[in-house]
Amino acid sequence: MNREEYFEFIKNSNNLRLEVNSDPYRLHFHLMPPMGWLNDPNGLCVIKGVNHIYFQYTPFSATWGMKLWGHYSTENWIDYKEHDAFLFPDIKEDKDGVYSGSAFVENDEVHYFYTGNVKYTDKKYDYILNGREQNVIELISKDGFNYKNKIVLLKNSDYPKNMSTHVRDPKVFKIENDYFMILGARSKDNKGCAILYKSTDLKRWIYYMEIKSDKYYGYMWECCDLVKVEDVWFLICCPQGIEQDGINFANIYQIGYFPININFKEKTYNLGEFIELDRGFDIYAPQTFIDNKGRTVLIAWMGIPDANYTNNKTIKNGWQHALSIPRILSKKGNKILQQPLPELESLRSNKKVSTDNHIKFLVSTFELIIDIEDSNKFLLIMEDIKLSFKNNIFSLEMNESGEGRDKRAVYLEELKNIQMFVDTSSIEIFINDGEEVFTSRFYPKNKNINVEVFNKGTCTYYDLNNFKIVKE
Ligand code: FRU
Repeated sequence: MNREEYFEFIKNSNNLRLEVNSDPYRLHFHLMPPMGWLNDPNGLCVIKGVNHIYFQYTPFSATWGMKLWGHYSTENWIDYKEHDAFLFPDIKEDKDGVYSGSAFVENDEVHYFYTGNVKYTDKKYDYILNGREQNVIELISKDGFNYKNKIVLLKNSDYPKNMSTHVRDPKVFKIENDYFMILGARSKDNKGCAILYKSTDLKRWIYYMEIKSDKYYGYMWECCDLVKVEDVWFLICCPQGIEQDGINFANIYQIGYFPININFKEKTYNLGEFIELDRGFDIYAPQTFIDNKGRTVLIAWMGIPDANYTNNKTIKNGWQHALSIPRILSKKGNKILQQPLPELESLRSNKKVSTDNHIKFLVSTFELIIDIEDSNKFLLIMEDIKLSFKNNIFSLEMNESGEGRDKRAVYLEELKNIQMFVDTSSIEIFINDGEEVFTSRFYPKNKNINVEVFNKGTCTYYDLNNFKIVKE
């Protein structure tokens, strides 16, 4: 779908939009595809004081299809503008989708880097060692809306000889006077890894180094991101192919990070153990950036590919998936902490505080803050969903409303507090000040959700209002 076809489609899409907007499972304080499908957040950046959020977008289908980049922007994280799609597959090097990528802003220019996906169909291919091009393409914009031409920077032949044809999702950052680009990859011997390129002008990129783990962490790492939180570097990535190990690595694909002690000059590094970033059912493909207030913010796709649970309830109404609540990153030792953006506090109304051991309420979009004095006494029931803590295991258990989602869990030394956001059909649970997070979708039968909390401690409840999203 090129630009012209997109605008033709949009002109005739009023009915689809109305149908999507009438879905009771539409979210109120999350970014969703205006219609159709959304996956990874892309190109997060600040242009003239405004945060820009692009995303993998297939407006004409609620299931996987040709990828464009959709576009939102916001100054305050509460009032948003919905823009026309930004990027389209319209050259031979990206003809099967403008895949994920990032933005790097310097001297009033935004440099976007993304993967142009090309899939050959003329004969039989395995699509691992052959049959696919993954081109790194750059474009430059002054305003985040317009650009002139696409520049192909790297092709399959520019990747190291030991790489398969899966090399994608460029993320660019600067250290002193050098620019680095990290890409996620699958080596020919089926190991996930990251590769780095270096440039002094953002145009000519020279292969620099590979980052891989001694221990096997899957066959492919998608959406790699090297981010410094305070004084520690972390390699955030999404490994595919890690086997479930008890309560760990329970999703089909993982979202997590390695603390990494890296010396860019010497090309040396030391990877720590891989740590899961989120334990929920619906979370993948995160991207970080420094927002317009200077904070390191992470946004992820509130969805996951190839899972055996569904979102049929929204697909039926012409859309699927959303972006997570933006989270501010900080660290504790070698662990990343995630805190929901404080701006969300301005959505609060109707505060209620309770110290009763047992409270019940009926709500649809809300925030709950639970301080826990005796973790043995904690239990939360939300329709047919249960949150519990037993023998140091915190669990989220779903039944019918999980549409195939069953149980996810994490080991905790202790359970001190929970901050939980429920938005019609999504739930984000921040535990112990963001040490652990669970992000999931669920589909309650009734608009108002029955919540029951058993707890010794204080429980603070708020209704949450909607984001204001204006179509430009
Ligand atoms: C992750 C991902 C990326 C790719 C994009 C395509 O969800 O598979 O690796 O660039 O989605 O939409």
